[in-house]
Amino acid sequence: MDERATWATRIGFILAAAGSAVGLGNIWRFPFLTGESGGAAFLVVYLLLVVGVGVPVLLVEFVIGRRSNRNPIGAFERLGHPGWKAAGAVGAIAAFIIFSYYSVVGGWVIQYVVASFTGGYGADAEAFFLSTASGTNAIAYHGLFMATVAGIVALGIRNGLEKAATVMVPTVVVLLVGLAGYGATLDGAGAAYSYYLAPDLSTIVGDAVSILPAAAGQAFYTLSLGMGIMITYASYIGEDRNLLQDAGVIVVLDTVIALLAGLVVFPFLFTQGIEPGEGGAGSIFISLAGAFQQLPGGEIIGGVFFLMLLVAALTSAFSIFEVVVSYVTDTFDVDRVPTAIGMAAILFVVGIPTALDLTYLDAYDLFANNILLILSGLLLSIFIGWVYAGEAVEELGKGRASDGRIEAIWVTTLRYVVPIVLAITLALSVRDYIGFLQESFL
Ligand code: TRP
Repeated sequence: MDERATWATRIGFILAAAGSAVGLGNIWRFPFLTGESGGAAFLVVYLLLVVGVGVPVLLVEFVIGRRSNRNPIGAFERLGHPGWKAAGAVGAIAAFIIFSYYSVVGGWVIQYVVASFTGGYGADAEAFFLSTASGTNAIAYHGLFMATVAGIVALGIRNGLEKAATVMVPTVVVLLVGLAGYGATLDGAGAAYSYYLAPDLSTIVGDAVSILPAAAGQAFYTLSLGMGIMITYASYIGEDRNLLQDAGVIVVLDTVIALLAGLVVFPFLFTQGIEPGEGGAGSIFISLAGAFQQLPGGEIIGGVFFLMLLVAALTSAFSIFEVVVSYVTDTFDVDRVPTAIGMAAILFVVGIPTALDLTYLDAYDLFANNILLILSGLLLSIFIGWVYAGEAVEELGKGRASDGRIEAIWVTTLRYVVPIVLAITLALSVRDYIGFLQESFL
């Protein structure tokens, strides 16, 4: 990003960061991972990781961004530690992979918007999802989503998108609360709540090894961490701003929306007699399409819901695409518009396998989130905890009255807790991923 504007208002930064954080990760990915990973036990581990790892790493990105006033490539040079650019490079690769399939899922959402307004989702919600998710239509809508994001960047109508996001966040919350309220009246609600909300300590301990990679990957994914997006956004904020407070707002908002999505999805799934893990990547689409079909006026509610989900997906996709494009423009000294168009074309091709077969989607998703984002987070925490702690503490203290206690806790967490947790997670993720590849492709 060469045009270095600053956020005019506090709310401008929060909205952009929240627009990046709130997306398919909250409404699509969170409920389906929770369903696949055992419900409440996953939820507990996830929440612990959001607080214990997500928040400290979000602050790391904020501090690096504001301190350096640079994008993630320039940031480490500016801070006098160019070698740590590697952390940014890992993030850029992750951004590239995530964006290629994010756009495919965005294409599913467009198909659901169209279906909502043109007569529904067919008789069988599961069959409808499968026909949406793979095939030539999936490729075509993936292209449409990609072209939309590239068009927004190329035409510079980012402001329009940000205005849409101001409407999106409250609308999504209202719709989710309404749908969760409706879900509470359904037959399956009781079973759904005990599955989703009643953790059992022995399951958590017993399944920790399998839960950890998924929960940690999701914590990074949903908060848009590990790719330098928050570094970039924070590079535009002033020193009078309280980073801790801004991080708090973003994390709470993001977490509440994910929790609400779970409160919607599980009662619907249980009522429709679908096992929580069975819907897989289709959970949100299948459960909602089934429910909208029953509801009076469901097609309108469905249309509005998927439209808002599309806006949420676009604001997040935009933030990922920005990282990819700014890496390329900064590194190779090319112009934005041709870069945006060229990158969109390449990303479109790279995403095609995931639009043909959901196994590829998993392969991309697991590699980028459970391995690359975790690795990037590990590097970032070691950098701030062990190399740059003094300056980082000073930076975090700006814009607030501080007695240094929170900073001390933060640095200790970054030195020990975060690296240990992430190193263990990374080892488990790599092992799981090898297993996954052997199972799926050999
Ligand atoms: N956070 C977004 C979501 O929940 C996705 C996303 C946007 C993202 N930017 C990112 C994920 C950067 C990881 C890194 O949908």
